[in-house]
Amino acid sequence: MKLLLKAVTIASAIVAAPALAESWTLAPAGSHLAYGSIKKDTVGEVNSFTGLRGHVTPGGKAEVEIDLSSVETNIDIRNKRMIEHVFSKAGTASLTTKFDMAEVSGLSVGETTTVDAQAVLSLSGTDVTFDAEMFMARLTETQVKVSTNDMVFLSTEDAGVNAGVDKLMELASLPGITRTVPVTARLIFNRDEEQAPVAPAPIAVAAVTGDVKAGKKVFRKCSACHKLDEDHHTVGPSLHGIIGATAGQSDGFRYSAPLQKSGVVWTTETLTAFLSDPRGTIPGNKMQFPGLKKDGDIANLIAYLQAETQG
Ligand code: HEC
Repeated sequence: MKLLLKAVTIASAIVAAPALAESWTLAPAGSHLAYGSIKKDTVGEVNSFTGLRGHVTPGGKAEVEIDLSSVETNIDIRNKRMIEHVFSKAGTASLTTKFDMAEVSGLSVGETTTVDAQAVLSLSGTDVTFDAEMFMARLTETQVKVSTNDMVFLSTEDAGVNAGVDKLMELASLPGITRTVPVTARLIFNRDEEQAPVAPAPIAVAAVTGDVKAGKKVFRKCSACHKLDEDHHTVGPSLHGIIGATAGQSDGFRYSAPLQKSGVVWTTETLTAFLSDPRGTIPGNKMQFPGLKKDGDIANLIAYLQAETQG
């Protein structure tokens, strides 16, 4: 039983490792979203949002929610005017994009990369689509930083806030405010703790992980009754192409009813269970074999069967 568990654990770890279904949650403390404006042609100002929430799904869909009432212009009255006139008291805006999660998972700690992302900003019922080059750094095993590589320019007209900006100009008696707004973002995401493995990869991939040479030796325990060439049945059925096959279905071999009717599909998992305890796993089958008890034997054997007849 110990062996069985271990072998299954190894097999599932191998299957799951390259593509963990990772989801990530934005850490508001380390994140920062800012935009700039220039008034009267000469006075540049930076505004930012302190209220950010966000999440990235295992499929790479990222959504950041911006609490528009959290806008910080460093002047109270201006904050109020922004919320009321530019953001039309919309509450929240959302920023959605999609990341290639293979790229994210593939980054080792300390590594960085740049990716092209297409993002959509939804603000008061208007969607603005824009391209942004994003810089990505894996800070730790469980933390990534995503930031704009350059600044991104958004047009106030596209964002549907031109009238609001007109109103600001009027209220502050300003001759002009630029209608193209540079935006920069620094987003920190922490990996969620509960990570469910994605659907297992095809078993053929998982099976190549044992040691084929060692598996060949293990097969000596089977070869008295099993051959590997197709349709060559002896005491037991040929094991040609056994991985992925349904139990008890080889043409020309007379199986016992329990095995033939078991409906078992031979995968790393089911073979591991069967070979460690043939009689306990499929009671009443007629394979006269006590089972393999040594750690690693089964994984190696499966690798050998795979390489020999399915590679
Ligand atoms: C003493 C003979 C004997 C030995 C040794 C033996 N088997 Fe079998 N094996 C059989 C027989 C007979 C069957 C058919 C059982 C039935 O029909 O109930 C069988 C069935 C199987 C099946 C199911 C095949 C199918 O088509 O569904 C697998 C898999 C299998 N054996 C693998 C092995 C492996 C791997 C070993 C060595 C670790 C091994 N066996 C050792 C006799 C043996």
